[in-house]
Amino acid sequence: MTRDAQRIVKLRREIDRHNRLYYTDAAPELSDRDFDALLRELIDLEEKHPDLVTPDSPTQRVGGDPIEGFNTLPHAQPMLSIDNTYNRDELQAWYDRTLKTIAKDASPGPDNALFPTADDTPPPPLILEPKIDGVAVSLRYEKGQLVQALSRGDGKRGDDITHNVRTIRSVPLTLNTEIKGSDPVSPPDVLEVRGEIFMPDAEFQRINENREAQDLDRFANPRNATAGTLKSLDPAVAAERRLMFYAHGRGELIPNPFNSHHAFLAALRSLGLPTNEHTQAVDTFDGAWRFIESFQETRNTLGYATDGVVIKIDDHALQEQLGSTSKAPRWCIAYKYAAEQATTKLLKVEWQVGKTGKLTPRATMEPVFLAGTTVQHATLHNYGEVHRKDIRVGDTVIIEKAGEIIPQVIRVDTDQRTGKEKKIAPPKQCPICKSDIAIDYDTKRLNDLERYDARCEAAKKKAEKQGTDPVLPDKPAPLGPADESARYCTNPECPAQFREKLIWFVGRNQMDIDGLGEKAIHQLADEGLLKTFGDVYNLHTQRDKLLELDRMGEKKVENLLAGIEASKSQGLARVLAGLGIRQIGSSSSAALAQHFGDIDALTHADPDAIAQVEDIGPITAQSIHDFLNSPAGQHLITELKDAGVKLSEEKLVIPTADASGDNPFAGKTIVITGTFESFGRNELKTTLTRLGARVTGSVSENTDILLAGDKAGRKFAKAESLNIEIWSEQQLLSKL
Ligand code: IVH
Repeated sequence: MTRDAQRIVKLRREIDRHNRLYYTDAAPELSDRDFDALLRELIDLEEKHPDLVTPDSPTQRVGGDPIEGFNTLPHAQPMLSIDNTYNRDELQAWYDRTLKTIAKDASPGPDNALFPTADDTPPPPLILEPKIDGVAVSLRYEKGQLVQALSRGDGKRGDDITHNVRTIRSVPLTLNTEIKGSDPVSPPDVLEVRGEIFMPDAEFQRINENREAQDLDRFANPRNATAGTLKSLDPAVAAERRLMFYAHGRGELIPNPFNSHHAFLAALRSLGLPTNEHTQAVDTFDGAWRFIESFQETRNTLGYATDGVVIKIDDHALQEQLGSTSKAPRWCIAYKYAAEQATTKLLKVEWQVGKTGKLTPRATMEPVFLAGTTVQHATLHNYGEVHRKDIRVGDTVIIEKAGEIIPQVIRVDTDQRTGKEKKIAPPKQCPICKSDIAIDYDTKRLNDLERYDARCEAAKKKAEKQGTDPVLPDKPAPLGPADESARYCTNPECPAQFREKLIWFVGRNQMDIDGLGEKAIHQLADEGLLKTFGDVYNLHTQRDKLLELDRMGEKKVENLLAGIEASKSQGLARVLAGLGIRQIGSSSSAALAQHFGDIDALTHADPDAIAQVEDIGPITAQSIHDFLNSPAGQHLITELKDAGVKLSEEKLVIPTADASGDNPFAGKTIVITGTFESFGRNELKTTLTRLGARVTGSVSENTDILLAGDKAGRKFAKAESLNIEIWSEQQLLSKL
């Protein structure tokens, strides 16, 4: 073995050991920095020797290719659920029932006085574990290697989520078999371990903040965020989100040397599988109840969501004897805590403008203690919510923490109303810049309405064909306040959201300005050099000021100004996509630009004319029309025009082919990788789809063509290895 090869083996072992110390033993020996340094060294060595990369290397947790869809596979042993109880009496009833079953089976019968009666049997030891509010998973290790991770599914079959679970650092890819002071033991042939994947609260907050900044819906609670992450086809998503894992149960075990749950848990820990540190053994019902009461306080301090305590009979033989119903084992039960609630008074409501322009009503209440913290603020989400719950200032409100974190108003105690409460008015202007606001509605209702005309047309056509009277669909009720999902400030230059909007505007799929990234935007805005979109195009007059700034050398400034100049010719589709108008993404922008050709034609078009464009419904059309004709929109467009930004679009001559047509794309399965000069990725995808191609996310034997742009990576290598046709951007353009 070469020196590098030896070092690689050593590094992997070290990294696995430190992961174990961190996640399983909660006794880290290294700082994050030192740990990262080890990982970095390993990455570098493996890059130098790609032939030495193995699937169980800690570097292989991230960055696998996306999968095309989920495989559903059978569980070796069913994954049951647990019965729940919500109060002491129910729990006591379960306990009594369980003792009775055990005693009945142990006692030979009342006639035989020589044997002890049931009353003399010592109570069976119990193990209590926090009930983690996450997503259940079954991990399968064969000969010490993680080979499969399945979700619970229907209990008999689950989805194969191995690609995502592999990215979770607390899930070992290889089981530890080194035991201090002795030779390594051999790993079990098969170890199926069940457990819970969950997202720590801090990570949940971080992800939601990011989502908000990208104008994506927030996850309602950490469990939804975890489930959403595990459902992603692309493991890069899971790799970026720090999920955690605790083991708590068993599936198939070959061999199975364990006769108690506590012995099984201890073995898991020495194999490197984390179990929950708040697990406790007790002997009596009172002991169990004391734990449940004290854990109710502890659980508020853990930093991850728990919703109860699971009580398990420790002894495996007794577990066997008690057996299961079709749904759940009789040897365990979950005690679930009721969500804590508090009653307080709503003092005032303020509308806050988020970085994307979203206006959120934030309630201030009389401070009240709830689930571990003093709560004074709650989000009321949006005006629709305020309207549906009829929340008024001065009301007595019942609050709860959603997913144990974010306080929410559950309902109003209307019996406490005095008549002095004040209705909450929806904002008609942005509280910061006084611009017009736009309203978003529930997507389903919106779709129903936007598609109504088309559905009527379809029904009429069908009837005509069949020579019958048309059966028209019921007209959906018009949108009302209860359907509102958000209000937005429409001014991209509103000080509350300007920076975020500008970051989007200059982004890769929009104006694509090299050298004007997030950091530069903050820096230039801090210096007062950027207050409007038009300011970007005046930066060349500020050359001296730019040169005085930190980290802004001659070369950087040159690049920046050149990038800005080049972006002027991107064309109308990208400008429209960059403005962040509600519901207008890159494909609708492209369609609008193609249809109208230039900004003036679009601005002067009435909403009905805009709605003629493919994929643009009447509500979206109104939103574009209103924005372009608003003072804020007019100001922005004028500035861009004056700066010489191209606000027109050449007509693309795309053959109007369908899947059966004879163009080189029809019926082909195409994968796109890297970046392209002439297209945004979405734009390219739309174009190809229109030409009858199927665009998928990952390269497989079924792929016909890989379109490789600049910086093509892993997919390129994979396509090469599978001998798949690879086209460059030049080739693509010639075929188009
Ligand atoms: S034991 C046979 N222990 O709660 C089922 N489950 O609501 C044995 N859960 O499906 C499960 N923490 O995913 C067990 N410490 C814990 C748990 C736990 C969370 C989950 C589990 C189960 C669900 C039922």
